[in-house]
Amino acid sequence: ADPDPLQDFCVAILNSTISVNGFPCKPVPKVKSDDFFFDGLSKEGNTTNVFGSLVTAANVLTFPGLNTLGISMNRVDFAPGGINPPHIHPRASETGVIIKGKLLVGFVTTSNVFHSKVLKAGDMFVIPRGLVHFQLNVGKGKAHVITAFNSQLPGAVVLPLTLFASKPPIPNDVLTKAFQQQEVNVSVRDFPSLSLF
Ligand code: GLV
Ligand code: MN
Repeated sequence: ADPDPLQDFCVAILNSTISVNGFPCKPVPKVKSDDFFFDGLSKEGNTTNVFGSLVTAANVLTFPGLNTLGISMNRVDFAPGGINPPHIHPRASETGVIIKGKLLVGFVTTSNVFHSKVLKAGDMFVIPRGLVHFQLNVGKGKAHVITAFNSQLPGAVVLPLTLFASKPPIPNDVLTKAFQQQEVNVSVRDFPSLSLF
C-alpha cells in the first residue's frame, strides 16, 4: 500500500529535524550491512498484561532499513487463552503464518460477515486492508505467529483501547448509546500504560 521506492534503499534517519512522508535517508557512505538485518523477532514477547499477548514490531521505527520499501513484519506471542484484541491496520493488508500453537483467527468484512478458522503451526491467513481482525489462543500452551504487511508502518487501531482507553476518554454517554448498554465496563481504562503496538 506504500508508494514505490525511487532508489535501492533509504535507511531511515528516525531523529531527523526535517519531517517528510516517511523518513529521510541516511547518507549512502554511512549505510552498513547491519542496517539490513534485524533480530528483534527472535525473542519471545512478555505476555503478562490484560490481553495475554504481545506484539513485537519489525517496522520502520524499529528496523530503519525498511524505510521506503513498503513492507514490515510482527511477531505476536500468546499466553494460553491470550488474545490479540480486535484491531485494524489503516495502511496495510496483513498475512501471517502460525509458528507455534493453535489460534482462532478471524476478521469481519465491511458487510459484517465474519470469517474465521482455527489454525495450527505452518498454516497461513490473510486479513484484507482495513478490516477488523483478531487472534485468540485456543490451544493448551503458548502460541506465536509471524505476520507481514505491505507497509513500512501499517499502524494499528486497537478497538478496546481506542474506544475505552483513549486520552481524554470518550464520554460515557457516547459509548452507552453506541453499544446500547446501561453502563460501560471500563476495565481497560485501569491499564492506562498498556500499549500493544
Ligand atoms: C496481528 O494481527 C498483527 O497485527 O500482527
Ligand atoms: Mn493485525
